[in-house]
Amino acid sequence: MPVMNSPYMGRQPSEFKILTELEGVPNSRSLDVYKEHGGYAALEKVLKGGMSPDDVINLVKASGLRGRGGAGFPTGMKWGFVPKPAGEKYLITNFDEGEPGTYKDRYIAELNAHMLIEGKIIAAYAIGASKSYIYLRGEFYDEIAWCEQAIKEAYDAGYLGDNVLGTGFKHHMDVYVGAGAYICGEETGLISSLEGKKGQPKLKPPFPAVKGYLGKPTIVNNVETLAAVPWIIRNGAEAYKKFGTEKSAGTKLFNISGPVVRPGCYELPLGYPLKRFIYEDCGGLIGGKKLKAVIPGGASAPVLTAAEIENMTMDYEAFAAAGTMLGSGAVIVIPEDVSMVHVLENLMHFFKDESCGQCTPCREGTGWLLKMSRDIVNGDGAPGDAEKIADVAGKMMGRTICTFSDAAAGPARSIPQKFAHEFLEFYKNKASAAHAQG
Ligand SMILES: Cc1cc2nc3c(=O)[nH]c(=O)nc-3n(C[C@H](O)[C@H](O)[C@H](O)COP(=O)(O)O)c2cc1C
Ligand code: SF4
Repeated sequence: MPVMNSPYMGRQPSEFKILTELEGVPNSRSLDVYKEHGGYAALEKVLKGGMSPDDVINLVKASGLRGRGGAGFPTGMKWGFVPKPAGEKYLITNFDEGEPGTYKDRYIAELNAHMLIEGKIIAAYAIGASKSYIYLRGEFYDEIAWCEQAIKEAYDAGYLGDNVLGTGFKHHMDVYVGAGAYICGEETGLISSLEGKKGQPKLKPPFPAVKGYLGKPTIVNNVETLAAVPWIIRNGAEAYKKFGTEKSAGTKLFNISGPVVRPGCYELPLGYPLKRFIYEDCGGLIGGKKLKAVIPGGASAPVLTAAEIENMTMDYEAFAAAGTMLGSGAVIVIPEDVSMVHVLENLMHFFKDESCGQCTPCREGTGWLLKMSRDIVNGDGAPGDAEKIADVAGKMMGRTICTFSDAAAGPARSIPQKFAHEFLEFYKNKASAAHAQG
């Protein structure tokens, strides 16, 4: 069946199709269809066309590909950190996809998991790993099955095994199913979980590229990052750089949620205008409602006001300059009739639940942020509370094992600051709080 009715389906402007090329193609998940569209030609080119591991790393560096898991770290550079001497090394795909509003990695698996498998084998060759894992969130039943099926087909076709395509390169791949904790998406928490320990992050350095899974050099890459690799190898670095901006090369999957007319997962070149995306591609807000705010990159990204998105482009540098981030590309649209005090309380509920509890500023801070924002929602707030929230959030930043604490602090600082007038309304009386709640 074509992937036509997927809830994730966007409407791809045809010239931007790199990752979504198979959208609408019958039997898009099959190996045969993937091969008809150039699938595994990149692996053949690498292994049989005489490309060395360094050639692959240099090509990916030249393409400007940056990690799509959130931080945007240059992919080729990261692969280059793996020590060269032979020995056990691992490649892990981060398919935890726990960032609220994010469903792009699932869409890739739904279209064709072979994109990911091929990208993984090429990446494994580049870093010298003979074993790799796909770390998948436990709730993703379909995606687990699609990845397992694609791995089986890849083994049967000779793309995986002791002698890949008869070239002597050995690579084995497995799926590992996690139990659905947001913190297991953080790469060192993920590695702990894969090792059978509690999914808790570890201090860096040492970085996983030097000391990761079972103490060996390990690269953790997001699904979307690896799925882009075959296209880059087939078409070259310059072709990839034709999309996007100087520092944000290529296309990116943007998952939009909130009351827009055409929600879905859209592939767009980085640097695309955010307003055009919301109003033209996604059809604007349902019922002609006014836009109040946008969370541009998942729950961890500080909020932008409607005025701030006027000339905003969707790329790493423009979002960073505006004090927020591209993150996972999860664009959350907030309409005029949703209270930002409720948005804050909702986000703080999430962060309080998901803190792993190792660090005091994060464990205690998220609890206090939830309590204070909930008090305001319940009509028990008082002038000065929003400032206290921002103050507590400020003390949670830059002093914990991982950046989860900073992520929780981001919206807790930006929302009270940018929507101070809405907090004042809530302090006035319980009646106005109850009204906004309805
Ligand atoms: C709290 C937290 C949750 C994260 N969740 C994810 C996730 O679900 N998927 C993901 O790919 N990266 C996630 N990351 C980022 C990973 O730590 C890591 O940077 C990423 O997998 C690297 O892949 P990339 O270089 O391809 O982007 C998370 C980071 C933090 C701090
Ligand atoms: S910052 Fe929070 S989530 Fe990260 S290790 Fe510390 S307690 Fe755990």
